[in-house]
Amino acid sequence: EKGTYPHFMLKEIDEQPFVIRNIISKYKDENEDIKLDEDIRQTMLDADRIYIIAAGTSYHAGLVGKQLIERIANKPVETHIASEFLYNMPLLSEKPLFIFISQSGETADSRGVLVAVKELGHKALTITNVPGSTLSREADYTLHTYAGPEIAVASTKAYTAQMAVLAILAVDTAKAAGLKMDFNPLQELAIVANAMETLTDKKDKMEKIARDYLSVSRNCFFIGRAIDYYVCLEGALKLKEISYIQAEGFAGGELKHGTIALIEEGTPVIGVVTQHHVNLSIRGNMKEVVARGASPCMISMEGLAEGDDALVIPHVHEYLTPLVSVVPLQLISYYAALHRNCDVDKPRNLAKSVTVE
Ligand code: M6R
Repeated sequence: EKGTYPHFMLKEIDEQPFVIRNIISKYKDENEDIKLDEDIRQTMLDADRIYIIAAGTSYHAGLVGKQLIERIANKPVETHIASEFLYNMPLLSEKPLFIFISQSGETADSRGVLVAVKELGHKALTITNVPGSTLSREADYTLHTYAGPEIAVASTKAYTAQMAVLAILAVDTAKAAGLKMDFNPLQELAIVANAMETLTDKKDKMEKIARDYLSVSRNCFFIGRAIDYYVCLEGALKLKEISYIQAEGFAGGELKHGTIALIEEGTPVIGVVTQHHVNLSIRGNMKEVVARGASPCMISMEGLAEGDDALVIPHVHEYLTPLVSVVPLQLISYYAALHRNCDVDKPRNLAKSVTVE
């Protein structure tokens, strides 16, 4: 089923614009409004705090989800790593709602939390690519990400689909709460799909970045601030799991508190900036690492770009930039793995769904 593609991962990266358009059509009613289960709407409204639980890439989508729900729907959200939640359980609010994000719906760490919170009598909603999966069956409600089967171990289209659904959910909740809303996620996601296509059409450019920066390096840092920081975490996870390059995502401001000690001559540092309010500060961080010998690779959004940026991504709504800025990071990881002769679709030591705790 790979068709003409050499790897599932590349096929799945390329499918993202179609997945986003599919999500738009599945979540749109005949009046061009958001279509969502009335019980889910009510449950979101009733909750006084949302706890997002997930692992790996789905956790990174959950970090973005927190920002979306808090900023758009004005509701407090905490995002937790599934495998840690039961050890470091926060004090729960009076009416919590648990949202589980899982591509497979089978992740044992997340299921452990689901079983525990159901025993406490709390409500659960699963956002998954596999309705009928364990996490979907055992939760009260399910939202489908409609990404189609994801075969490559490295998650790509499931991640962007999860964030698209979270944006739709956030706006639906805001509207149901009577908040004034000038952000139309269905329209804005259509712009995202086009922007993704522009980037997947520029594979030569991403291949060149991978070759120039990552063919021989032992490590790589991704730096960003605000929502871009969360995308950096995802970019680093992608790179390490398929290319085995030691990669870390950092908040730009944290560098000087330790990590900058690791920068040496030629260390690749990939910067991501899509948010106006952090443009100057992240560029300042880039200068700091360059002064210590780093090779800088800046990925910026239209409107924020400067002359020597390595890649400029098309402009999309500020809430949705992670769906677009992650695409070059996925492709750079893919080509880095190829150049290093790694098994892209089946990296060593990893399974597609992790069914042990
Ligand atoms: O199926 P899930 O979304 O629950 O899986 C969670 C993680 O195991 C998964 O995202 C993993 O981190 C991927 N290999 C990342 O590409």
